[in-house]
Amino acid sequence: MSGLIDFSGKRVVVTGGYSGIGAALVELLCDAGADQIVVLDIKEPQASVAEFIETDMGNPTSIDAAVARLNADGAPAVDVLFNNAGVAATLPAETVMRVNTLGLKRLTERLLPTIASGGAIVNTASVAGNRWPEHLQQINGLLDTEGWDEGVSWVAGNAEVVADGYAFSKECVQVYTMRMAKTATEHRLRINSICPSPVDTPLLPAFRETMTDEIIDWSIEAGAGRVATPQDQARALIFLGSDMASYVNGVNLVVDGGFGAALLMGQVALPNLG
Ligand SMILES: NC(=O)c1ccc[n+]([C@@H]2O[C@H](COP(=O)([O-])OP(=O)(O)OC[C@H]3O[C@@H](n4cnc5c(N)ncnc54)[C@H](O)[C@@H]3O)[C@@H](O)[C@H]2O)c1
Repeated sequence: MSGLIDFSGKRVVVTGGYSGIGAALVELLCDAGADQIVVLDIKEPQASVAEFIETDMGNPTSIDAAVARLNADGAPAVDVLFNNAGVAATLPAETVMRVNTLGLKRLTERLLPTIASGGAIVNTASVAGNRWPEHLQQINGLLDTEGWDEGVSWVAGNAEVVADGYAFSKECVQVYTMRMAKTATEHRLRINSICPSPVDTPLLPAFRETMTDEIIDWSIEAGAGRVATPQDQARALIFLGSDMASYVNGVNLVVDGGFGAALLMGQVALPNLG
């Protein structure tokens, strides 16, 4: 890769780096010179990385243990955090919310004060979260909760808006990204997200199961006409995590091959759901 995006000498944390988008990101980061990649995942990545910390992003004790290891005495500061781990609604809604929202928020807030000045946080959200304006009040209600147990209780007490957890968890990630942008500037950091449409990863069959083939195929055809690859998404992630995005903050970058634009401009018909 050209020197425009250069991760040499940077300590980079990737959650969910075992497969899919996260694995593609790890590969791309290596191509960009990264030699201090730390993967946080429930599964050990095949790629050779500087460190693997077995971490369950749905478990606060596990997340706190990972933060303690990342910030161990003598360890260099983290420069860039990629919050990429996520699960689909084939799992219970509470699990989806724990991993996709509460865990992401906890790791971010525990690590943010020690991220090196000039660094970045990049979240993997989703186009499934694009309808956040319809639930902003509830989303803020959840994001305002303090402590893990209060967050979990909020989820249990708001089953109607949480629904199967996936879309709501990603709405929360989009709103969280914007809410944290000001805090990020106070630490001389940036926080952004990518919002992918369907991506050809091990998670796609789960989305087909929970969202139907019709919806998934329609969003692919109405967009670029081909499903996104993990590399398509990793390229957007690495850009937002790099100094090339030095003035980009609080942005939810839609990476959907044009699907959303076509929909907004009335250029695609709604799917025929039989
Ligand atoms: N594939 C898609 O169509 C699509 C679309 C939009 C957004 N996304 C998002 O992209 C992100 C990456 O997903 P992917 O599509 O690459 O799927 P994937 O299943 O290949 O990757 C998910 C990664 O998260 C890890 N993981 C799962 N549960 C975990 C936990 N409890 N703690 C720590 N790590 C855990 C997995 O081991 C894996 O490495 C997710 O946040 C997902 O919601 C995916």
